[in-house]
Parts: sequence; structure tokens; C-alpha cells
Amino acid sequence: MKALEQRIIEAGKVLGPTVLKVDSFLNHQIDPQLMYEMGKEFSYLFREEKITKILTIESSGIAPAVMAGLQMNVPVIFARKRKSLTLTDNLLTAHVYSFTKKETNEISVSGSFLNHDDSILIIDDFLANGEAALALAKIVEDAGASVAGIGIVIEKAFQNGGKKLREKGFKVESLARISSLENGQVEFLSNELEETIQ
Ligand code: G4P
Repeated sequence: MKALEQRIIEAGKVLGPTVLKVDSFLNHQIDPQLMYEMGKEFSYLFREEKITKILTIESSGIAPAVMAGLQMNVPVIFARKRKSLTLTDNLLTAHVYSFTKKETNEISVSGSFLNHDDSILIIDDFLANGEAALALAKIVEDAGASVAGIGIVIEKAFQNGGKKLREKGFKVESLARISSLENGQVEFLSNELEETIQ
């Protein structure tokens, strides 16, 4: 998605060979107009699938997921990373190991919102090692529902998450695919846009 690649070039900061900081439009401050365009793009990319609900994980997956839900006219559920006072019944859980943060979190979703006949689109902001997406897919499968696809805002294609998910047979669509962050440079897999950002 050109507008996203352009924004990454203009506003992203490479923090090292594996980490891209995009908190001016995605991870902290949010650009609603760009999110809206992302929602339209996800809706277009998954137009062939019969999606009944979207599942994401708090916090940064929520904005793009809601915009996709708005376009597709389906509800959006987000997995919680912390125990909730009110979310106690019929919990579906999974463990997510973060290679970035070197910690494991238990995520949970109420089974009340996932039915066996649901066809779920999983959306997340970053795809690195695929642990979050795999945990969300496990929750969908534990509910007896099916995964229609996985939509990612920024895929770091030099890490193995995309390969892992595609090898498992999931349809993965990413709005921007980064092939390298070496030497402070963002390179996209498309090779159409390459620029140095500091
Ligand atoms: P994985 O799920 O693909 O295995 O990813 P990983 O454990 O490495 O990522 C853990 C957290 O770090 C996730 O956010 C993920 O979105 C984020 N992340 C991974 N790589 C990058 C990166 O290069 N840049 C940025 N900005 N984030 C990255 P989280 O902790 O769940 O945060 P949030 O959703 O609450 O904002």
C-alpha cells in the first residue's frame, strides 16, 4: 500500500536492524485517515473471503482492525493481554512468547463472541515471528471457528513469522512488507520504494 510505505519513509525511525518505530501514526499517536485507508485495503484484499468477524490483539491492532470492520460491516473483537474484571466466563486463552520482549503473555478472548460457524479475519499491526498471530489462530480454532485470513499492517519479511504462517496454509496479506532495516535503511520487498530514514 503506497500511502503506508510513504508514511513509513517519512515518519518511521529505524531503531536497529530489527526494530522500526512508527509511534507517530500507528503505535502511540494514531492517524485516523491512514487507518481508514488501511481498512479499505484490508476489505479489498479479503473481498473473496466470507468474513463474519475480525479478531485482533490489544493495543495497536485495534485501530486498523476497527477500520477494516467498518468497511466489511462486521464486529471486531480484541484479545486482552491482562485479566479483566468483567471478562471471566467461558474464556479462551493462549500463550504468546515475544522474541522482541523476551516474555510470555497469556491472552484471552471470551468464547461468547466466537461461534463455531464464524469465519475470522485476524488483524495485527506488526508481523515479526508470528507468535501473536499463531496464538490468535489457536483461539479461533479452540472456539471451533475458522481462520479466513491474516491481515498485517507491517510485515518484517526478514523475520520468520510470514513464512511460518504461510507454510501453515494461512492466507496472509500485509500492507507493507519490509525486507531489511540494515544500516538505518528501510527496504520494502516490492523494491519500488527504498530510502534512508534516520
Ligand atoms: P510476533 O508476535 O510476530 O512474534 O512479534 P514480537 O513478539 O516480536 O512482537 C512483540 C510486540 O512488539 C508486539 O506489540 C509487536 O507488534 C511489536 N513489534 C514487533 N516488531 C516491531 C517493530 O519493529 N516495531 C514496532 N513498533 N513494534 C514491533 P505489542 O507489545 O503487543 O504492543 P502493542 O500492540 O500493545 O502496541
